[in-house]
Amino acid sequence: MAIDTRTRRNSDIRPLDAAELFDAVLPDAVGLHGELAGRGAAYLGLPPLGLEVDGRSATLDVANGRLRLRSGIASAGVTAVLGADACSDLVQDNASCMGLAMNARVKIAAGSINDWIGWEPALRALFDGRRVHEEGDVTFAAADGGALDLGRVFGVDDDRDEMADFVEQAGFLHLRDVFEPQEMDALGRDIDAWIARATPDDGESWWATDEHGTSQAVRVLFFYEKSETLRRLVADERFAWIAGLTGDGHRHGRGGEGLVKPLGITRGLSDLPWHKDCGQGRHSYMCSFLTCGISVTGADRASGALGVIPGSHRANTMAAGRDPRLDLQPRVIETGTGDVTVHCSCTLHRAHPPVDRPRQVVYTTFVLPPMPGDEGRSDPLEQRAARAALSDAQSRIEAADNDASPQRYRARRGR
Ligand SMILES: [Fe+2]
Repeated sequence: MAIDTRTRRNSDIRPLDAAELFDAVLPDAVGLHGELAGRGAAYLGLPPLGLEVDGRSATLDVANGRLRLRSGIASAGVTAVLGADACSDLVQDNASCMGLAMNARVKIAAGSINDWIGWEPALRALFDGRRVHEEGDVTFAAADGGALDLGRVFGVDDDRDEMADFVEQAGFLHLRDVFEPQEMDALGRDIDAWIARATPDDGESWWATDEHGTSQAVRVLFFYEKSETLRRLVADERFAWIAGLTGDGHRHGRGGEGLVKPLGITRGLSDLPWHKDCGQGRHSYMCSFLTCGISVTGADRASGALGVIPGSHRANTMAAGRDPRLDLQPRVIETGTGDVTVHCSCTLHRAHPPVDRPRQVVYTTFVLPPMPGDEGRSDPLEQRAARAALSDAQSRIEAADNDASPQRYRARRGR
């Protein structure tokens, strides 16, 4: 088992117009994966999905256990209005239902945005042939056939094959005492310095609001370029070996973000709720990359910590939020200063908010090399701008929801 699950190449992405989407792509997908997607949609209990794109419309629903495509939206339980470019990205997994909402590219005209986001796993079954996760699909086993200890903490000198097996099965890893306290002090000072320098519109920071209405910088983007300390630690053999952990050819992405987790944040992307890092889309182009959290300060139940759902990277389940029916159980990873956490991009994870004292953490990733014949994405400036623009994504998700829905999306709801 390895963690490179990619099935699509960037070079195959092309713009699809409404005619091609409704006359070819949708009917072809229903013909090919209608049974798989219909089983998933029925398992998830999804309402019929209406799509309205540039004057064309159709509804996906389940009939006789198969997904069916009907013209018009008269029978839809949830209706999404979107442009052909957005629908084109959706069917090619270049953007997810949530990704479109976060970027103001969809408007829910009937039903609730929760149903729209709930359709994501069934759409991946329809367009990518990924079976929707069902109870009992994901199991764990130790090398001796016994139960895998999901609470295991590793040291950097432990057996690498055992670590690789743990990551492949559980989707995360906790490494104890990778860095020294003095090194973490230096890294923390760099975070503080750049947080102090940040301004709301600098395009290089994320901002959040606390219970007193005070807005503050909580995340330094492009921190790898700003912190010589981080660059040195990432290149250090104590950390760099993670690239070879699963044998998939990961390499450090030359990026990193410095985070502070203040107390009492009520709005903004500080203590992120359950999500996968592919939750905005592109799972089939990039998963799994490995995100490492360097614990600059310790993270425990008082200062907030990383929560993970072991095995969720192997489950085609909601990638933005936690499906209450998901049969996999969350864990809290309490770390000490200098510990490193590693999680797969499609492992469900969250940040528990600090209750007693703030904390600092740095996230940096190891990405997969381009697939054979493919190239990386060629728009780094656009990607930087898109990353910065996520600072107020919650407002755009709220705006995307149906104005008349009784369960309208609100920041911090649904934890
Ligand atoms: Fe994340």
